Amino acid sequence: GQYQIGVIVGSLRRDSINRKLANALVKLGPAEFSFKFLEIGDLPLYNQDDDDKQAQSVVRLKGDVKGCSGLIFVTPEYNRSMPGVLKNALDNASRPYGTSVWTGKPTGILGASIGQIGSAMAQQHLRNTLAYLDAPTMGQPEVFIQVKDGFFDGDGNIASPDTVKFLQGWMDRYVQWVKQHAE
Ligand code: FNR
Repeated sequence: GQYQIGVIVGSLRRDSINRKLANALVKLGPAEFSFKFLEIGDLPLYNQDDDDKQAQSVVRLKGDVKGCSGLIFVTPEYNRSMPGVLKNALDNASRPYGTSVWTGKPTGILGASIGQIGSAMAQQHLRNTLAYLDAPTMGQPEVFIQVKDGFFDGDGNIASPDTVKFLQGWMDRYVQWVKQHAE
């Protein structure tokens, strides 16, 4: 596609509902958008002592983010915040000082939980960090998904047509959001 979007999932779990949600979401994108999943599970724990010799995995993530026209985060909520692995990725790719790759990237945020608030607090904490990192985050529509049994069918598709329609609406807005920032 003409626009490459980096997708970052805040869970490392094999059967992650957030990864499933991300997989279903990217199918709703237009042909001019391509989506690249950026993996964060092999990043070292951020240590400022390593700023002058960042690990290859950090260099890779930073390069990938730089090459993207926009980003999508799909995250679970851990203990009413974003998972440490996600914060660790944000920290690693924000340093050394002055080389943050997050600056100016138009960003969409979604999340799924088995709980009722659908990762709302994790998303709000993520917005806080992205605001500081100067990445504009799309405010609406918000996506707080509660995943119950049967939410995904056997092929990993979202079973409810209403939910698919809602996510299509989100994607259509996000596409406009990215294009707006590309101008
Ligand atoms: C959770 N979970 C959870 N859910 C929630 O709605 N609010 C929360 O604060 C937490 N806290 C929390 C902490 C930890 C350490 C775990 C492992 C889980 C439940 C969470 O929503 C559920 O495990 C999801 O399935 C996690 O998302 P993935 O990994 O399936 O994408």
